[in-house]
Amino acid sequence: MSKNIIIALDFDSGDQALKFLDRLDPNLCRVKVGKELFTASGPQLVKEIVSRNFDVFLDLKFHDIPNTVARAVSVAADLGVWMLNVHASGGKAMLEGARESLEPFGEQRPLLIGVTVLTSLSKEDLEQIGVPTNPEEQVSKLAFLARDAGLDGVVCSAAETRLLRAQLPDGFILVTPGIRRPEDASGDQKRVVGPAEAIQNGSNYLVVGRPITRADSPNAALVEFNSAVASVS
Ligand code: C5P
Repeated sequence: MSKNIIIALDFDSGDQALKFLDRLDPNLCRVKVGKELFTASGPQLVKEIVSRNFDVFLDLKFHDIPNTVARAVSVAADLGVWMLNVHASGGKAMLEGARESLEPFGEQRPLLIGVTVLTSLSKEDLEQIGVPTNPEEQVSKLAFLARDAGLDGVVCSAAETRLLRAQLPDGFILVTPGIRRPEDASGDQKRVVGPAEAIQNGSNYLVVGRPITRADSPNAALVEFNSAVASVS
């Protein structure tokens, strides 16, 4: 089983996250720890989740001077995480430094993923921060920068997946949030796609939060997401 589903552990306490994980099989999914949970419960929680055999995507989106990011990435890798990310807009030296800091981990190193343009940013928002291009062009530019710096892939929205898959090599990983089944509420996600469609568009890993974390039976919801992915893999 290829474990394409990454469940977003968007909880505000470690206790809640662990209680949720008690009900899940690490052979059927991976999990994402983001800024909320990490700020609440920190590295000890990450270690605990890793010790329960879950592959952890540490979604802290590092963005700082190259030396600081390289050191943070190395310390994160020490926690035993499977994947972590940095902002591609931090520039090539920062991205290369992050990649180099993982060399000592050899084959055991975590995957290093770039964040391109946050999907919450519109064309107008980009203009306001001095980036007067359309968001798609900027996404593509940053994805190529990430690839050139040796990163393993990028996070991209469902709307961007097809375009990036066509432009980038097969081995370059695309991680996609905003995934919903037809019966799921979209919540604050503006553009959503189904799990099968996202995989067909070329995504490798799907980040799913509320449709699983808030389900009456998270395990049953996960089984459904996995079946949808398997039907097109
Ligand atoms: O609950 P839901 O499935 O919408 O959760 C999606 C997860 O993916 C959340 O952790 C969210 O922060 C993350 N994410 C996103 N859109 C992005 C980047 C990350 O929804 N562009």
